[in-house]
Amino acid sequence: MSPLYAMYNLSNLKIEKEPIILGVESSCDETACAIIKGRKLLANQIISSASEQAKYGGVVPEIASRAHTEAVDEVVKRAVKEAGIKLSDINAVAVTYGAGLLGALLVGLSFAKGLAYSLNVPLIAVNHIRGHLAAAYLDQPDLKPPYITLLASGGHTAILHTKSLTEFEVLGGTSDDACGEAFDKCARVLGLPYPGGPNVQRMAEGGNSTISLPQCLVKNLERLQFSYSGLKTAVINYCHNKEQKGEEVNKADLAASFQKAAIDPLVKKTVEYAKKLNVKTVTAGGGVVANDYLRQTLTQACKQNGLTLVLPEKKYCTDNAAMIASEGLNQYLSGNFASLDINARAAIPLK
Ligand code: KG4
Ligand code: ZN
Repeated sequence: MSPLYAMYNLSNLKIEKEPIILGVESSCDETACAIIKGRKLLANQIISSASEQAKYGGVVPEIASRAHTEAVDEVVKRAVKEAGIKLSDINAVAVTYGAGLLGALLVGLSFAKGLAYSLNVPLIAVNHIRGHLAAAYLDQPDLKPPYITLLASGGHTAILHTKSLTEFEVLGGTSDDACGEAFDKCARVLGLPYPGGPNVQRMAEGGNSTISLPQCLVKNLERLQFSYSGLKTAVINYCHNKEQKGEEVNKADLAASFQKAAIDPLVKKTVEYAKKLNVKTVTAGGGVVANDYLRQTLTQACKQNGLTLVLPEKKYCTDNAAMIASEGLNQYLSGNFASLDINARAAIPLK
């Protein structure tokens, strides 16, 4: 430990059963702060730079970092006010330390370190993806492992088997693009603005999934594997072929067909694995889980197969700090505290 942190001493730390945890998230374009007491959410605040990023068609890392710098103090103030607590009531500070944009992460991490240091409370370093998994506890505070999770975000697509508060197995993932990334690329092909996923969904609502596209599942493998590059290429080729023939693309039908091809295999395999492993509960997390088609098909599939589905509200699927505080609690209860010299990490393997 650096001598800089000499005053930071947790040797008399008392572990609370229902700690007040302040969570900070700044891995991409949302500056967010949330406060929980036990599993109860007391405050959830977000300041987003998405509209600024939209002018450039995607997230510009330097703009994200600057926006976090401007917003982090304000978002924390708002959360503390909403929760009706004093800063001195906080028992731990949880923060995303990766994966994400390095400069963006550093803003939240530095702020959280300073806060933990000044309050002399533990710092909890949260893996963003584990945060997405822990969003389910916001919907169902009594959730207990084991459960199967469908994770679909801008950076990850996987099916996971969570066995305890801090332990999970990756049952399968993607060999190339993540599902959200594929949505964003498809949006670009369809001429839709950033953020792509919600716009593809909106366009798909007026269409029929009648266009034949490859499914995102890689067949004939021992291990479960998804792949989105073929689907993306098929969408591009479909548009080129139509253009060459001088025919118009029915964008709504193409969006609906893409959405179905991108999501159906995820839902099918999630349910299949829950049954195969005899796990009765299914959860889901990540930005793509805000997609209505995914939510409807997963709800239906779980119902048909007698599985209990814990589906976080849409606002807890896309990036937020409530999920970071929620995972912070899992780590707090397991005594996983970070050193103040921990660094941000742009990439962290899922496992
Ligand atoms: O989890 P998230 O907010 O950030 C990451 O950790 O990556 O996920 C962002 C991804 C983006 O690719 C975005 O297009 C996608 O989630 N997304 C959606 C929807 N809302 C967000 N994709 C499809 N339908 C949506 N409604
Ligand atoms: Zn995320």
